[in-house]
Amino acid sequence: MSDINTYIEENKDRFIEELIDLLKIPSISADSAYAKDVRRAAEWVKNSLDKAGADATEICETAGHPIVYGEKIIDDSLPTVLVYGHYDVQPPDPLELWSSPPFDPVIKNGNIYARGAADDKGQVYMHIKAFEYMMKTDNLPCNVKFMIEGEEEVGSDNLGIFVANNKEKLKADTILISDTSIIANDTPSITVGLRGLSYLQVEVTGPNRDLHSGVYGGAVGNPINILCNMIASLTDENNHITIPGFYDKVNIVSDEDRAEMAKAPFDHEAYKKELNIGDTFGEKGYTTPEHTSIRPTLDVNGIWGGYIGEGAKTVLPSKAYAKISMRLVPNQNSKEITQLFKKHFESIAPDAVKVEVKPHHGGEPLLIPTNFPAYQAASKAMEKTFGKKPIPQRGGGSIPIVALFEEELGLKSILMGFGLNTDDIHSPDEHYGIFNYLKGIETIPYFFQNLVEESK
Ligand code: BES
Ligand code: MN
Ligand code: MN
Repeated sequence: MSDINTYIEENKDRFIEELIDLLKIPSISADSAYAKDVRRAAEWVKNSLDKAGADATEICETAGHPIVYGEKIIDDSLPTVLVYGHYDVQPPDPLELWSSPPFDPVIKNGNIYARGAADDKGQVYMHIKAFEYMMKTDNLPCNVKFMIEGEEEVGSDNLGIFVANNKEKLKADTILISDTSIIANDTPSITVGLRGLSYLQVEVTGPNRDLHSGVYGGAVGNPINILCNMIASLTDENNHITIPGFYDKVNIVSDEDRAEMAKAPFDHEAYKKELNIGDTFGEKGYTTPEHTSIRPTLDVNGIWGGYIGEGAKTVLPSKAYAKISMRLVPNQNSKEITQLFKKHFESIAPDAVKVEVKPHHGGEPLLIPTNFPAYQAASKAMEKTFGKKPIPQRGGGSIPIVALFEEELGLKSILMGFGLNTDDIHSPDEHYGIFNYLKGIETIPYFFQNLVEESK
């Protein structure tokens, strides 16, 4: 397969142009105003699979945004790889913080800047281009199925239903996903764990209408003040979460495993510098890499209420809101944690306010072993193209469908991502390195080849 590098060299400009075309489509799944664009992105992905040589491509309808499917079955006796990814993206706001418009991709300093460049359009498209290479050069060594969804950024509820209803169609030997990061361009890694997620919105209601803060202030509970106090009480002086029962099921990682994890390179000074923070901030007794991998968290993602216009308006608002997420680790369960939060949050509300807790979506945490053929196939593929053996590392983010794949299809996933934590996914100026994009295209065909070898 020595000609993958030649193929990339000859086609890389086109690979980049095509990706830019996809990145121009604002497929924001969270915002219903963009539903047509989400569909347009699905059609674009389907077309690109057709052109690369996939069979049986289709747009599968769901109660929400559609799923793109395609396959190439060359021999039933060979392994089948199910490639999963998502073509939907996060909302781009705050728009004013972008150096260039989020859906008007630009190339700067070896990166493609656009919403979705790294998460996940760029990483999805690597698979389609690697497949194109394998098809055009007669190098596809086994069967492949593609399932690219449009609701990952909103929790993948409809994909869950689709998977449960299409077990035969999705029959495969392993699932390959590029939607995570490596440690650095000279330090490859494979993600062997994801955190779960419990996401909810809280609404605190005080008086039945906005009041004059002089006439009523001091006597009537201010829902914003109270919400802030309630949120503040959810963590203690050690940054430990105070919700009763929250840690009960947390899998305690052994000292040996922690020592092993600590061998992965991490530069605390560079980390602080890159984020322009005086210090990191986290649960007492754990390191920064541990805070983002083996420990659960609670974060306010947004908080609002009252007057936020120009100047000042003296008002005691009627309502206050916050969106809160909790990242979960094995063996916490998102439904249980949501319930524990709800019960606790309602119990700490003073009588001066009413509290409503509305769950959004969730996902379960998971761990992936390293001692099975598909992991070896990925590890050897990366070792070949990076010249270094990848480090197995747990990721801090969540991909809700991965735990469901295991439950419904009985399949483990390989999280062979090529992004960097500094790609600013979900942030202004999201970007994806051209190095990473092309490295992915180069590595994927080796995964396929190694998988066939490892499964013999
Ligand atoms: N690709 C990310 C998840 C990710 C990123 C995992 C980096 C590991 C490293 C995915 O698109 C994502 O953003 N997931 C959401 C969850 C979803 C339910 C909104 C997340 O983690 O916030
Ligand atoms: Mn993603
Ligand atoms: Mn994302």
